[in-house]
Amino acid sequence: MLISLMRRTHTLFLATITQTRAMTTTCRNVDWRWLETTPSTMDSAKELLAARDTNDARPLAVATAHQTKGRGTRGRSWTDDGRGNVALTVAFPSEIPLTPITLLPLRVGTLVIDALNDSRLSLKWPNDVLLEGGKVAGILVESDGEAIHVGIGVNIASAPAVPSSGSDRGRRAAKIPGDAVAIAQRIADGLGVWSQSADDATKVITDWSARADWAADLELRETGERVKPVRLLPDGRLQVRGADGERALVADYLL
Ligand code: BTN
Repeated sequence: MLISLMRRTHTLFLATITQTRAMTTTCRNVDWRWLETTPSTMDSAKELLAARDTNDARPLAVATAHQTKGRGTRGRSWTDDGRGNVALTVAFPSEIPLTPITLLPLRVGTLVIDALNDSRLSLKWPNDVLLEGGKVAGILVESDGEAIHVGIGVNIASAPAVPSSGSDRGRRAAKIPGDAVAIAQRIADGLGVWSQSADDATKVITDWSARADWAADLELRETGERVKPVRLLPDGRLQVRGADGERALVADYLL
């Protein structure tokens, strides 16, 4: 009883320090906001951007350690247990330095894996960050006509259970040790710096290819078919080889 009370007090103490630090520190290359909790940073970013001075062209970064209604790709949910994973959305109200736009999810993948800075990590097409086969980070790109919103979830304190059947089914989660606020700020800053740089399709393809695990088979979500990745095409599609020969994948059909 006493030990459990001490543990809870310690956890609360750490959470308070983390939140205070996250609220008072800033990133140099983005407009940084920290929320104690929010349904989804994707929606918070839209609201905060709408309320901001329209002359401010900086990317807006909104982060939290707890979402109550986080969302993933293809309508799946993205969950955390509120103990210190990171949910971050960086919204770009101005033009981004990349065409075609279909390459953006891949570029975000390389920026996230570089910010996490752990040689054990690899990218799975289009942009999941994997550690020994488990998913450490997921990326969701949305656009509402006003801005492009890039959402990134990183499992740091815990790897949430992922269902193996039903609409939310997905790959097993893994976690990477680190300081949640520092990681969120590194990712946000990396995206901020990138948005001011010159980028191009060839560079994205080269950078992404160097960080992918080409030896790992991929499993198609709808059919369960296993395919081998062959190469990235200039528009970001992935050429794969299956039992019936080669073809290009156009969206994230993979587990
Ligand atoms: C995926 O399905 O792999 C993408 C997961 C994206 C989760 C992040 S967490 C921050 C942002 N807010 C959300 O509600 N989703 C994204």
